Amino acid sequence: MDKLRITGPSRLMGEVQISKAKNAYLPILTAVLLNPNGITLREIPNLRDIDTVFRLLENLGVKIDGKGQTETYFNPANISSLEATYDLVKTMRASILVLGPLLARFKKAKVSLPGGCAIGARPIDIHLVNLEKMGAKIDLTGGYVEASTTGLKGAKLVLSFPSVGATENLMMAAVLADGETVIENAALEPEIDDLGNFLIAMGANIVGLGTKIIRITGVKNLHPTTYTAIGDRIEAATYLMAALAGEGDVFIRGIDPVFLESVISLLVDAGANLETGPDWIHVMPSSLKAIKIDTAPFPGFPTDVQAQLIALCTQIHGTSIITEHIFENRFMHVPELCRLGARIELKGNSAIIEGSTPLVAAPVMCTDLRASAALIIAAIAAQGTTDIQRVYHLDRGYENLDGKLRALGVKVVRIS
Ligand code: UD1
Repeated sequence: MDKLRITGPSRLMGEVQISKAKNAYLPILTAVLLNPNGITLREIPNLRDIDTVFRLLENLGVKIDGKGQTETYFNPANISSLEATYDLVKTMRASILVLGPLLARFKKAKVSLPGGCAIGARPIDIHLVNLEKMGAKIDLTGGYVEASTTGLKGAKLVLSFPSVGATENLMMAAVLADGETVIENAALEPEIDDLGNFLIAMGANIVGLGTKIIRITGVKNLHPTTYTAIGDRIEAATYLMAALAGEGDVFIRGIDPVFLESVISLLVDAGANLETGPDWIHVMPSSLKAIKIDTAPFPGFPTDVQAQLIALCTQIHGTSIITEHIFENRFMHVPELCRLGARIELKGNSAIIEGSTPLVAAPVMCTDLRASAALIIAAIAAQGTTDIQRVYHLDRGYENLDGKLRALGVKVVRIS
């Protein structure tokens, strides 16, 4: 298993190009299943989660050409299976996103239940209850969701929580359904808009993107299209925090700062010296004071940046408090950060972080994707050489992480 060896402390200097968003491409890739005509997607990031979804699509019978190249071509004309197996779903919860498209186009689907996960129980009840409202019959047997329908029908759906995945699954299901579907209390994350724009580019009829009420009128056919997803706001936020932790000076390119408004305003209020342009953020050496923030659905502070912010808070002045509201048990990075000398106390779903703490290298282990990003930031700030084990968690979501960090001046090597 690969590990990363980082020798710190380092001050990040230079420019980094942000990849296209993993969390935009995962639903877009499953939406390809809706359309028997060819789709071309551009600049898909080279990530383990993307490889997983490629395997999932290929198992279903989608032909894919040009993997790893600027343009990747998908031919979903001849689907040979309607089943997403446990092997694939267990490694990536977003596999559940094939349910809506398969049901919409083929009236049948069998998808393994994602089950528990390292950052909480993560049920899929909101997906299933609302597919039922659209006319799906759902059985849970043998660890699988077995869904069938005589034809999905438009319905009024009121989500009990603005789940990102449920909003995406239901949008995809509604695209080919009979009549109008109204999704109320829809998630507002930029990746929802991106999926909607992709669906519209294929001929879907959708209004209300970017609001809590999305209206989709079913269409009979979709047409070929070429599409490029938005930049990855979580990757950009990770480089932002890494730069601030070491008083670095970094141009972060390929990201619309509007997607990170909650993060940027929090950091600026704490003293961060930032400039933004249409598709860049320039972070300059800054001295930050303590932070108090709660995670929340978009446009609130993203749960996917909570771990990285905790790592940054170990290096700023004063005592910070970060409260997690989206996932239970999302503090697995805390004991690992403490191995590097961080002083963090957990109280319920809050982390209380003592600032200006000198970190010292120690072997640490990745536990999930964003927890691992926190360890990277801490290792860059720490004195000495830190070995970070189980890097495959990072490879799920950060394209060329070690290459990008090296280009910013970090002493990092990958050891196979
Ligand atoms: C997506 C993101 C993930 C991010 C999360 C929250 C992708 C591929 N992943 O995950 O990186 O951390 O949004 O911003 O885009 N819930 C239920 N029932 C459901 C669905 C969700 O109770 O049917 C709960 C979950 O357990 C969790 C919360 O709602 O506590 C948020 O989940 P959701 O918004 O669905 O996140 P994901 O789509 O899984």
